[in-house]
Amino acid sequence: MANNYPFIPYKRAYITGEEMLSKSQAYYQWMDERRTVRDFSSEPVPREVIENIIMTASTAPSGAHKQPWTFCVISSAELKTQIRAAAEKEERISYGGRMSDEWLEDLAPIGTDWQKPFIEIAPWIIVVFKRSYELVNGKKRKNYYVSESVGLAAGFLLAAIHHAGLVALTHTPSPMNFLCKILNRPANEKPILLIPVGYPAEDATVPDLARKTKDKVMVFYE
Ligand SMILES: Cc1cc2nc3c(=O)[nH]c(=O)nc-3n(C[C@H](O)[C@H](O)[C@H](O)COP(=O)(O)O)c2cc1C
Repeated sequence: MANNYPFIPYKRAYITGEEMLSKSQAYYQWMDERRTVRDFSSEPVPREVIENIIMTASTAPSGAHKQPWTFCVISSAELKTQIRAAAEKEERISYGGRMSDEWLEDLAPIGTDWQKPFIEIAPWIIVVFKRSYELVNGKKRKNYYVSESVGLAAGFLLAAIHHAGLVALTHTPSPMNFLCKILNRPANEKPILLIPVGYPAEDATVPDLARKTKDKVMVFYE
């Protein structure tokens, strides 16, 4: 791949078959312990930890390396109160009839409703914004595969949160445009996820869900 742009050698430690197998198994088992938690403790988490988690998310691949994301991080009690009120306003309408019966039926095992106390309880709220374009010298410059790229970054974010010993809730109050206003975001940004992060409450519970088995999620063509 010769061109006029600089390239650097890519070097990583070589992992052998046996070690590869045990590492991949251990990582799978450890990732399988990740759960979405809805009962948070208000115990503080250092800002630097959150910064590291977000920088990990920002290592995700992205279309044409545009990194089309902004992570807004909220600890201000005043803003959390505003966000909770706005989210609950939308969610009350959603659960009260805007969602289809089928959707409500699918949500029943998860046990969610319109109330979102975790927005005020969790020490940090990360709002993930996607950036559909950039303004360069006043001109719009396109970003590519924005949703795919930001989805990947969000996945890295959740893995980093799990790695730090913390828990998260991937929350999508719908519609969530109120976040642009409350957080005063520019016109090229749209919120896609609202993620409270912190320690779980001591008495936290999670739905007893089973994950799909091997034969349901993969098809090999060898
Ligand atoms: C895009 C997306 C949106 C979600 N929105 C919500 C939400 O608004 N509220 C909520 O309580 N959980 C939400 N979840 C969490 C899912 O309910 C949860 O991931 C699923 O039940 C599986 O549980 P687990 O994450 O513990 O494996 C969302 C997850 C994803 C990926």
